[in-house]
Amino acid sequence: MSPQRPILSLFTVLVSLLGSSLGSYYQENTIHQANAHRRLMKASHEHFALMTRADRATPASSRSSVVPGWVSVEDFGAEGGDGVDDTKAFEKAWNQACSKGAVLVVPGKKTYHIKPITFSGPCQPNTVFRVYGTIKAWPQREAYEDDRKHWILFENIDNFIVDGGGTINGNGRKWWQNSCKVNNNLPCKEAPTAVTFQECNNLRVTNLRFKNAQQMHLTFEKCFNVRASNLLVTAPGNSPNTDGIHVTGTQNILISNSVIGTGDDCISIVSGSRNVRATDITCGPGHGISIGSLGADNSEAEVSNVVVNRATLTGTSNGVRIKTWQGGSGYAKNIKFLNISMRNVTNPIIIDQHYCDHEESCKEQKSSVQLSNVVYQNIKGTSASEVAIKFDCSRTVPCREIYVQDVVLEPEGSGGTTASCENVRYINRGRFFPQCTS
Ligand SMILES: *[C@@H]1O[C@H](CO)[C@@H](O)[C@H](O)[C@H]1NC(C)=O
Ligand SMILES: *[C@@H]1O[C@H](CO)[C@@H](O)[C@H](O)[C@H]1NC(C)=O
Repeated sequence: MSPQRPILSLFTVLVSLLGSSLGSYYQENTIHQANAHRRLMKASHEHFALMTRADRATPASSRSSVVPGWVSVEDFGAEGGDGVDDTKAFEKAWNQACSKGAVLVVPGKKTYHIKPITFSGPCQPNTVFRVYGTIKAWPQREAYEDDRKHWILFENIDNFIVDGGGTINGNGRKWWQNSCKVNNNLPCKEAPTAVTFQECNNLRVTNLRFKNAQQMHLTFEKCFNVRASNLLVTAPGNSPNTDGIHVTGTQNILISNSVIGTGDDCISIVSGSRNVRATDITCGPGHGISIGSLGADNSEAEVSNVVVNRATLTGTSNGVRIKTWQGGSGYAKNIKFLNISMRNVTNPIIIDQHYCDHEESCKEQKSSVQLSNVVYQNIKGTSASEVAIKFDCSRTVPCREIYVQDVVLEPEGSGGTTASCENVRYINRGRFFPQCTS
């Protein structure tokens, strides 16, 4: 027996353990709140530690001949060295894996550099993309001229799994330096999203690390039935627009057990998204969990049935935020923020219906995205700023059915906290501190 065998199977056991613990997170009601949350978060950190160890132990160059049904990028000439462009090898390996319904393997221990690439379906069922090692973005920005929006794009693939415990590194430093948010003299141009899933159904993305994306790290666009779990997403707190997980036009998605610290939103959920659940999420640094922005450029937005349950936010500029531009239309409704712990968050609870990301201020407009049936329940912790709760709703389309129950936000340092509430109709049960004064 090869000496690698036991380690490989240890990895398999770990992966299936992660899988089964995920199953139990589904039964939210059976788990007892605060302690359970702490335990879970601790557990998720342990998972990452184990993941790395197991990952290091995987075979360095798992040639497909070793395991039937595996297609290694090295079989198609990938080398994984500095300055080596492995894009072609990945394309060829994908064509083979997709047409056979096989497991595409990116071997461990090495770093493969690739240029913008599209992995298209449809594929045979059970196609898997398994990253043990590291995939790193080609550094020269000229390589992205054809499509500045995407680095790795998966499109039109059903019943698909991406996993492996490895790392996807967007190598974003040059993009950040050239962002207009960092250097005001430069024009505002788009930078690529590191990994985009577009029109994928029955998708699982699990046990992966995402790092230093050029712009957003991971986007689900027009997908249906998605499970994203055990993800670790990291970028410096000052890297511009590096959202962790972005959900757009996607239905039935569960994001669970993930740790996200970046320079922008931890999770952002925008128009066309329905039945979105995020559970056991740890955020910070960054801008917190956000619904929106919605209604930009007088657009219509539709977001409904969003549940964020069990999250810890540390040192983020917002906690749970809903942001809409003036002049939009449509709705965001049936939203629940439950069991959330805030640590030194600047705007722990915020509805901002006057969102304006322009240099010049946005002018007053009549129409607005309607916000209704938003529940804030069991949200505790500390605020870095005085205004811990801010409901800044539209004058013409006030926020309706806002439920506040057991919300307690104390100041991080000395001083006090206040709530600022404009054009909002709320219903309060249980503790509510600080309360709206207006
Ligand atoms: C979270 O919130 C819901 C609704 O308030 C509650 O039923 C549940 O027990 C809470 N705790 C956990 C750990 O989900
Ligand atoms: C809290 O956050 C503020 C502002 O983000 C920061 O200046 C301060 O150092 C933080 N305090 C702690 C105790 O982390």
